[in-house]
Amino acid sequence: MRIEPFKLERFFARHEFTAKHLLSASDCETLSLPELLDLATPESFALWNHLSLSYTESQGHPLLRAEVARLYQSVSPDDILIAAPEEAIFLLILALLEPGDHAVVLTPAYQSLYQVALGAGCAVTRLDLSLETQGWRLDPDLLQRSLTPRTRLVVVNFPHNPTGFMPSHQEFDTLVRIARQRGLYLLGDEMYRFLEHDPAHRLPAVCDVYEKGISLSGLSKSFGLPGLRLGWLATRDASLLSRCQEIKDYTTICLSAPSEILGIIALRARDAILERNRSIVADNLAVAQRFFAEHSDRFTWIQPRGGSVAFPVWTGNGSVDDFCQRMLDERGVLIVPGSLVDSPGNHFRIGLGRRSVPPALEKCVSLVGPLYFGGSEKKGPYQADAFFTRAIGAGGPARR
Ligand SMILES: Cc1ncc(COP(=O)(O)O)c(C=O)c1O
Repeated sequence: MRIEPFKLERFFARHEFTAKHLLSASDCETLSLPELLDLATPESFALWNHLSLSYTESQGHPLLRAEVARLYQSVSPDDILIAAPEEAIFLLILALLEPGDHAVVLTPAYQSLYQVALGAGCAVTRLDLSLETQGWRLDPDLLQRSLTPRTRLVVVNFPHNPTGFMPSHQEFDTLVRIARQRGLYLLGDEMYRFLEHDPAHRLPAVCDVYEKGISLSGLSKSFGLPGLRLGWLATRDASLLSRCQEIKDYTTICLSAPSEILGIIALRARDAILERNRSIVADNLAVAQRFFAEHSDRFTWIQPRGGSVAFPVWTGNGSVDDFCQRMLDERGVLIVPGSLVDSPGNHFRIGLGRRSVPPALEKCVSLVGPLYFGGSEKKGPYQADAFFTRAIGAGGPARR
């Protein structure tokens, strides 16, 4: 198997830990170990205190799988396989697809969602989101037209990275109906689930609504705990899950023991953690909307419907790649250009989940021109500190 370099991950590997300001991170603000332990119930704190650093169960700790299963309506702990999220994509694609098979993948996409299939000798058709006056749109007819007799898998990702797009419930039902009619597997990358900007927009999990649906999720994004490297696959297809587990013996065999227990603690405290992170995203969204409204001569803002990223357009001079490079070189601000996710046009991704977003946006000001806030009535130079402090909020990590 030959697999192309992962452009976005190589970019982050090069810059993430040296750039002064991250404006494109897709995860939510993380917690320190003491902050997470502070959220532990006495029972889960005891698990942490008695943690053994042996190998763990290959399918995942039973208590962890029980907590994961509680996120769904119709799967049991036996229907869950624990793995790092990125690893879970790899396992699933290798378990499901043979060389010559065909997959249809919602694009732009997190690269592994299509690159692993290409590396495995499969054909992949892009299912491109289109940009309309109302925002991002997915045409379910396009899926219908992309199918071939060799199609075995459809891959979607809602809330979507990088656009923040979410289909309506009706459009989502149509996608599931098409997959069912054709007997296709449907992988739903739900890494950003629970970060819908309007809770009414939350979609059902793919594993709950479709017997050949596989939900991929984890603690990296909505929970802000990517360092745990903890994710999972949830599906009612037992033989598929068992095939994934067999392949996992060639990747990590099992999850790290400390991560499993910390994952149990986090999932048991999910309401507090998710509430905290939704509030950070909401505050950042308000800051971003105002920033892009004030600079509508250089940018086009496209309202995301969920998740912790947005994908506006650079309309100023030069290409978006030049803009991002200048931001990095001259202001130390790391911004992901759309080219890293194979997106045409001058889009770039901004993160909305970190507390560092407002000050990072502020750093962009001198490159894009003087910044004023206050709607049409421009009252004078924008007072960064006052506004950004309000936007960040008193917040602090969630406490019981
Ligand atoms: C849509 C999507 N799926 C999967 C992943 C993989 O998650 P992780 O980096 O925690 O392995 C990411 C990470 O950015 C992502 O954005």
